[in-house]
Amino acid sequence: MANITVLQLRAEAIAALTAASDQVALDIWRVEYLGRKGKLTGVLRGLAELSIEERKALGAASNALKSELEAAYDARSDELRGAALAASIETGRIDVTLPARPQRRGGLHPVTQTLRMMLDAFRSMGFSIIEGPEVELDYYNFEALRIPADHPARDMWDTMWVDHEIDGRRPMLLRTHTSPAQIRIMEQHEPPIRVAVPGRAYRFEATDMTHEWMMTQCEILAIDEGLNLGHMKGTLLEMMRRLFGRERKIRLNCSYFPFVEPGAEVAVDCFVCGGAGCAACHHSGWIEMLGAGMVHPEILENMGIDSKRYTGFAAGMGVERLAQQIFGVDDIRTFYQNDLRMLQQV
Ligand code: FA5
Repeated sequence: MANITVLQLRAEAIAALTAASDQVALDIWRVEYLGRKGKLTGVLRGLAELSIEERKALGAASNALKSELEAAYDARSDELRGAALAASIETGRIDVTLPARPQRRGGLHPVTQTLRMMLDAFRSMGFSIIEGPEVELDYYNFEALRIPADHPARDMWDTMWVDHEIDGRRPMLLRTHTSPAQIRIMEQHEPPIRVAVPGRAYRFEATDMTHEWMMTQCEILAIDEGLNLGHMKGTLLEMMRRLFGRERKIRLNCSYFPFVEPGAEVAVDCFVCGGAGCAACHHSGWIEMLGAGMVHPEILENMGIDSKRYTGFAAGMGVERLAQQIFGVDDIRTFYQNDLRMLQQV
């Protein structure tokens, strides 16, 4: 009677094991037949109610079945794993004779291309490249550049404030230009200084075809004995020629920036019409590109640099504006709309 139970259980378990077709089903089978609350354990628990003779016979048969089922489980598990591996090799088979899938080629953004050309030009003239923070203290963006809180020149740079006052005295903002880097460099380095500082700047202003609220600028600063406007002009002319062709000319017009004296707006002769006048240069023959000037002696002194011995020049250029000219892009806003059709044309 007892052996019949074991034989029935064996037949049932082997059939179920053969039917289990994956590892999940195998695990369920194991719990059902070999687990602590499984069917085989149930048989062993029932031994207590049997006579000694029956207990002996059924106990031996049950233990033999346990070993048999465990071995059968291992064998089935190996079998399934082997089948799964064979299937994955088959489906993953690579046909090396198939033609390659076309790769979509990426490219550098036109503003990045322009910036790299500019930086290459400055590097070849001995400038080092450094960067400054985009979230800046009012002190570096304005105060130290001779633009105190009530100065009308603050109107030139509509500001995005991060925090008007921290600890009651250190307001922070998104830098409106890269010029604060001038102060940071002068604080940390003795002349001679020759650096270019690329980076983002932000202005709270209405956008149009030549104005964005976020732009890339590139600042340069040179301080040494005997530097004069001629050195500044030569440096900027060389940069423009690298970007727009060797025959370019530049024009300096008087302009006002509180941190330079004298200050200048720099224009390049129109590379479309050669200066004759066309739509690109609004028929003036010249295209305004950047602000520049000789570092104000008061700033040098404030930074502990002897202004009788050292002079310096600085310039800040709008990289998008230059990229607009190089790539013939009418509207500056299209640079950051991320329309690949536009970006792939340039
Ligand atoms: C300045 O930002 C000064 N820091 C430049 C400077 C540096 C002068 C060192 C003297 C010495 P300005 O606001 O003119 O100046 O901006 C410089 C250039 O940034 C402009 O000539 C223009 O090319 C670009 N620019 C200015 N505003 C925008 C804008 N909203 N969108 C895109 N480009 C702009």
